[in-house]
Amino acid sequence: MQALILAGGKGTRLRPLTVYTPKPIVPICNRPFLLYQIDTLRRAGVTDITLSLSYQPEKIEQQLGDGSEFGVKLKYTVESQPMGTAGAYKFAEDLIREPTVVFNGDVLTDLDLKTVIREHKDRNALATIVLTPVEDPSAYGVVETESDGRVRRFLEKPKPDETTCKNINAGTYILEPKVLDLIPPGVSHSFEYGLFPKLLEKGELFFAHIPQRTYWMDIGTPARYLQAHLDLLANRVTRIHIKNRRGTFDSATHAEIDELSMIADECTIKPGAQIINSVLGRGCYIEERARIENSVIWSHTRVGTLAQVSNAIIGRGCHVGRSTIVGPGAVLGDKTSLTDYTKMGSS
Ligand code: GDD
Ligand code: MG
Repeated sequence: MQALILAGGKGTRLRPLTVYTPKPIVPICNRPFLLYQIDTLRRAGVTDITLSLSYQPEKIEQQLGDGSEFGVKLKYTVESQPMGTAGAYKFAEDLIREPTVVFNGDVLTDLDLKTVIREHKDRNALATIVLTPVEDPSAYGVVETESDGRVRRFLEKPKPDETTCKNINAGTYILEPKVLDLIPPGVSHSFEYGLFPKLLEKGELFFAHIPQRTYWMDIGTPARYLQAHLDLLANRVTRIHIKNRRGTFDSATHAEIDELSMIADECTIKPGAQIINSVLGRGCYIEERARIENSVIWSHTRVGTLAQVSNAIIGRGCHVGRSTIVGPGAVLGDKTSLTDYTKMGSS
């Protein structure tokens, strides 16, 4: 078994965070996102992994290298133009010899991949797709199934009147190499609108796997990116444990840092500051009596005296002025500077 991670999207919905950092390596609790997917694959014994890139590929390669640091072998393919999800898989054809686990490169999950692989083999499937239930499926691909687990219908981004089904495509597939013959070469092609409907039309053995009690989050919007952090901090992701909530940093005796928060190395937290249920990246500087709650702050950002940050995401190297309020929903791109007393977000 080998793996292909689709990590070539532009991450437009995560802007401004993805202006300087491609979505696959945005930090999640201070680790590049793709490392969580690499962990999932390694746990299932899959170590031959190809990253399918297009947007800012050099930044991703620079961070992850040949994978030896993470116990896997990484290879890269780089499309000059995004080829679509299935097009990206076809583009990697030369590297694919075995059944392949394909991941959408923006899903945080504690999926038990070994079980999915076993089920795929037991059923002799040509393709297996993992599903997850969601409240509102309109932003996803809905997958209707038969009682024996075969896929009946695949509907990408459905309108409310098109289906009542709440099971969606979780962005994990197992594909037999024969599937490559069904994808046209050299053109943009999508799993969602192209290959999957074609598998159904041809009556191929296309099965769904619905895992039990599994955490699942597409981190591709700021709200969901923040939610993934709050879920990890609260230990709601059963099989992913956050290690090292405390790096080596300077903290005044009179600062309050709750147990849930995660503070990276080289931070400075001044007297009277409060850090509640939040993540601070390396080298942040939090001035006196500033309060940070339910928020994610990337490395080397400074938050001024008496500033309040709540339910917000702040990029790298920002400066939040004195007594500034950064409220719910605010997302500041790298190097933003907010003048003292600024008020933003709905707080
Ligand atoms: N290499 C490459 N080339 N990767 C791509 C391309 C491409 O042309 N287009 C998209 N990707 C990658 C993205 O980087 C992302 O990791 C993944 O493919 C899915 O693309 P998104 O743009 O995030 O799609 P989505 O979230 O709207 O919908 C997809 O994911 C949902 C689950 O999160 C679909 O697969 C839905 O059916 C699914 O429910
Ligand atoms: Mg997505």
